[in-house]
Amino acid sequence: MTQGKTVGESATIMHHLPMPDETNVAGSVHGGYLLKLIDNAGGVAACRHARAHPVTASLERMDFLSAIYPGELIILKSSVNFAGKTSMEVGVRVEVEHLLSGAVRHAATCYLTYVAIDGQGKPCEVPPLVVVSEVERRRYAEALERRRARDAARSGL
Ligand SMILES: CC(C)(COP(=O)(O)OP(=O)(O)OC[C@H]1O[C@@H](n2cnc3c(N)ncnc32)[C@H](O)[C@@H]1OP(=O)(O)O)[C@@H](O)C(=O)NCCC(=O)NCCS
Repeated sequence: MTQGKTVGESATIMHHLPMPDETNVAGSVHGGYLLKLIDNAGGVAACRHARAHPVTASLERMDFLSAIYPGELIILKSSVNFAGKTSMEVGVRVEVEHLLSGAVRHAATCYLTYVAIDGQGKPCEVPPLVVVSEVERRRYAEALERRRARDAARSGL
């Protein structure tokens, strides 16, 4: 049987300092660009868990809670919440640090599902997720609920 992996073994923190060419006409970071950063950060955690190439299968609702401006440091924290047979739900929390004041604010949270694929592009098995802390257990239970809702919605397609 495949050995499990803890959440901590794949948890990832990535940083990005946005530049003016990554903004929208209002001067804040373009939403699509932020989604790309989120997908990258989520994909790294998924790849670390699976040690196989992940493809993005879906993402949950995304709320942009706070505009981000060039010169503010974007901090992306990603961790695997749930692992199925070949899929993984990864949560990505986006924080922003104002580099002069040091103030940090929460800008977004997103849940993405990745599927590990083999060399032929077919889904392949991922290790079970080992949850250790209370927070990890809560995230696992919430992710399982979302997965059930997603499966029900997809079976109705
Ligand atoms: C995601 C993909 C690999 C699933 O392939 P598939 O043959 O439909 O897979 P299956 O039906 O056998 O399901 C495999 C797993 O994916 C999950 N899955 C499939 N579609 C999903 C979706 N839309 N949302 C969430 N999970 C999904 C299933 O629940 C299953 O999970 P499990 O193994 O943990 O139980 C395939 O649809 C694909 O390649 N999509 C394009 C991905 C892509 O190009 N992404 C953008 C760039 S990375």
